[in-house]
Amino acid sequence: TTYDFGLIGLGVMGRNFILNVADNDFSAFGYDLDQEKVDALIEEGGNPKRVNASTDLKTFVQSLAKPRKIMLLVPAGKIVDAVIENLLPEIDKDDLIIDGGNSFFTDTDRREAYLKEKGIHFFGSGVSGGAKGARKGPSIMPGGNKEAYKEVQPIFEAVSAKFNGEPCVAYLGPKSAGNYVKMVHNGIEYGLMQLTSEIYDLLKKAGGFNNDELHTIFNEWNQGRLQSFLIEITAEIFAQKDDKGTGALVDKILDKAKQKGTGKWTSQNAMDLGIPVPSIDIAVSMREISALKEERVLADSLYGRPEPKTIDKKELVKMAEAALYFAFINTYAQGLHQLKDASKEYGYELDLSVIAKIWRAGCIIRAAMLEDISSAYSSDKELPNLLLAPAFVEKVKGTVASARQVVAYAATSGIPLPGLSNSLTYFDAYTSSRLPLNLIQAQRDHFGSHTYERNDMEGIFHTEWGS
Ligand code: 6PG
Repeated sequence: TTYDFGLIGLGVMGRNFILNVADNDFSAFGYDLDQEKVDALIEEGGNPKRVNASTDLKTFVQSLAKPRKIMLLVPAGKIVDAVIENLLPEIDKDDLIIDGGNSFFTDTDRREAYLKEKGIHFFGSGVSGGAKGARKGPSIMPGGNKEAYKEVQPIFEAVSAKFNGEPCVAYLGPKSAGNYVKMVHNGIEYGLMQLTSEIYDLLKKAGGFNNDELHTIFNEWNQGRLQSFLIEITAEIFAQKDDKGTGALVDKILDKAKQKGTGKWTSQNAMDLGIPVPSIDIAVSMREISALKEERVLADSLYGRPEPKTIDKKELVKMAEAALYFAFINTYAQGLHQLKDASKEYGYELDLSVIAKIWRAGCIIRAAMLEDISSAYSSDKELPNLLLAPAFVEKVKGTVASARQVVAYAATSGIPLPGLSNSLTYFDAYTSSRLPLNLIQAQRDHFGSHTYERNDMEGIFHTEWGS
């Protein structure tokens, strides 16, 4: 038998993805060094003609139909290189290797160039949606050689999530376009998660809402314009009872957030390209601050904080919803701006309306507003920033006052809302026709003769300040 699709790495993601492939009437063969994982997959697959697996790489490669389509779902980093080296002697020209992990985009560029010399097509392909997504339909973000993509396109379109019947996968662009888009997806994911956690804090501290009430509030929000996967699972989290004690589980979870690096990469690369993404930057910083638990406990005892001011609970919920919507928009706007500029810099030829489309289902940042985002970019392919799209001007105008109220309230009540404040500040700065950075230019020229431009005449100027 020759199998349609090969998958290396039978961890949770790999196992689920391969079963998804089989559900969609493609035969698939898995490879893993761990015999238990191989056996488990064969058993779960039920029919070895449809899903088979081996711990032997030669058997794996020889089981696949040519050109072979081999997907890697292994941890990003050196393991990917090691797997490629092991595969090389076994595979043939025109075979495809698809890296479905969160690899750093420059690694993908290096691997693509290296494999191109050998006639092998290499795809960095983001896969989002966690374990459930992999099993039932992820959002898939492939980049690489367009012609070669056609070989795997039918399989990807079949296994991907669907939004109104449209597959949440599209060829995104050459080279590492797929990994880059997935990286920024994760940066946005960090931003939205941070914002959601801040609003949870606000509702709890200022409104005194308990977990049952929070469950109801987030469920209601999820019926409206905030409808999204992250709001949906947040509602679910508040309803989860502690399986090792009493009360809600969320209250027992240590407030230190871990990270595997994709959010940080987004921020770092945005800095390299000179693209402002403060709502993402702060989300990374907050994970870092969260890690300083002991210092935070000490500092809390040294400083304390003001008592939250009394506030009408109904009013608070309304304000919080609007502020969160406002901040979500600003976070997507920043991430998409980064994609736009990165596309120019790296030659990805990204179509932002297509990206927003394939994010509408399957991925972690899926949200009702992506439909509007996609329309905004399809009616104006050159849109520099989502905040300039007429449909979004309306949405933002309708919510910015609430964002201001929430941020002002939280500041005087000592509730940290860094993501929300950064989103508001980003908005206020981006929409200011005049910023005080003329003073910075004056200072630079004053202490370092760095020169300045003028707003009333052309040219480069320098002044002997104070003389
Ligand atoms: C996805 C996610 C996933 C990511 C996790 C964890 O799209 O399915 O982005 O790829 O690994 O969200 O990321 P952190 O460990 O960095 O929070």
